[in-house]
Amino acid sequence: MKLSVEDFGKTAPLVIGYRCAREGSPITLVANASSFTSKEESWLMKALRNSRVAGKSNEFRTITNPEGQLIVAVALSQKSDLEGMRRAAGVASRTLIGYKRATFAIACKDSNEFRAVVEGAALGAYHFHQFKGTDELPVSLEKIGFQPGRTIKNAQAIIRRTEILVEQVRFVRDLINMPPSYLTPERFITLVKESLPKTVRMNVKTHTQLKSEGYGGITAVGQGSANPPRLLHLSYKPTKSKKKLAFVGKGITFDTGGLALKPAQGMEAMKSDMSGAAAVVGAIIAIAELKLPISIDAWAPLAENMVSESATRPSDIITIYGGKTVEVLNPDAEGRLILADALVRAVEVTKDLDGVIDVATLTGAQIVALGKRTAAVMGNNDQFREGFLDAAQTAGESFWPMPLPEELRASLDSPVADLANIGERMGGMLVAGLFLREFVPADLPWLHLDIAGPSFNEEQPHGYTPVGGVGFAVRSLTYFAEVTATS
Ligand code: BES
Ligand code: ZN
Ligand code: ZN
Repeated sequence: MKLSVEDFGKTAPLVIGYRCAREGSPITLVANASSFTSKEESWLMKALRNSRVAGKSNEFRTITNPEGQLIVAVALSQKSDLEGMRRAAGVASRTLIGYKRATFAIACKDSNEFRAVVEGAALGAYHFHQFKGTDELPVSLEKIGFQPGRTIKNAQAIIRRTEILVEQVRFVRDLINMPPSYLTPERFITLVKESLPKTVRMNVKTHTQLKSEGYGGITAVGQGSANPPRLLHLSYKPTKSKKKLAFVGKGITFDTGGLALKPAQGMEAMKSDMSGAAAVVGAIIAIAELKLPISIDAWAPLAENMVSESATRPSDIITIYGGKTVEVLNPDAEGRLILADALVRAVEVTKDLDGVIDVATLTGAQIVALGKRTAAVMGNNDQFREGFLDAAQTAGESFWPMPLPEELRASLDSPVADLANIGERMGGMLVAGLFLREFVPADLPWLHLDIAGPSFNEEQPHGYTPVGGVGFAVRSLTYFAEVTATS
């Protein structure tokens, strides 16, 4: 997909915005005036009025003008709302299935608004075709031109930076959408390697190395599968960098539940159980390509949680990297086991980290607590968490703070090991967070992002969010790194 400052003229669809308080109230066009004449403008206003627009979010009209050009008019909210603009632009892109080019002439007040429009337009035009028969391929936008209006001075630079970020969100969506027989731990690494910029170094631990070096969590989860586990480590170290962050993402390429086998319905979406791993990979690539002055290490423990004669049994005791033992009471609580290994390793490898953030589709309880579109943030440092929440808000991703109540910790005690991998059922998301906390030094700022709900959209597409892989957390992590680098 190519994004540029361009007007494709009358031969391509034109996207504009409009505002009105309610049905029947005066309409204002939010469109770059140079995109049409005053005669065309009054024609458009009339067409919108006749189609009884009310100005609600998600509302749009497609109108063909007298010259046969398709106009997509999207409703914008009365007050400035960046996420609203992002979603409106995404709605426009999704309605333009069948077109290869379009001009977005939504007028923008400032560079933040313009960035939101570019992001929404590019993210909304996503399609995953790789596994479709060639006959059915739907055409999707290949070139998007933007006409934000004269107030936006550095439009080309904004487009370029947004393009880098969007490209990674799209890559992450692709990884999530790939079928699990294709996207094994090994294939995940191959695909990452192919898209890695020169400034990011890569290191992989094989199954044999993981076993001999004491990564008991990743080994225990991966040992039931014919597709052996891996630990992927990516590292970006720019010359000018004052801060260091580590990201750790859960990379279960398929979660059957292991010997605690999931019912068929609960298993359907489990190819998305590597969304955290994909997100940290996408973020580090975006950060490197944006040349942000901050050191990042991204860790992706990768394994397939399968059922076989070699699968981990409920009541097996394993040793996490670093020496803590865990009684695996439920092999379906596997994410925390692979994350524990990777968290310990991440903290061991990089001295003087300013913080570590893990990202995981960790619990069904997350979805029960916050629904399908809001992710949870837990952690051991209020300031670090608030900083992240601010960044996420600006990035346009919905995260909400959650506690780690001390009284739940005792439920993870085991009579035979240092810890059990499950505890009290009520507040299961928080219990999982408390489990992970055991593997991070208390004085190191740490955040745990549970993205079980928002990472995969099993319902209708909405705004700039397609069905399937969402690419959730890439934008927040990247923007948080940007803010941290300069603070
Ligand atoms: N991958 C699942 C969590 C999940 C569920 C993600 C639904 C997305 C949608 C995780 O490995 C899991 O199975 N967790 C268990 C933990 C329980 C056994 C303590 C769960 O949430 O049921
Ligand atoms: Zn599981
Ligand atoms: Zn899982």
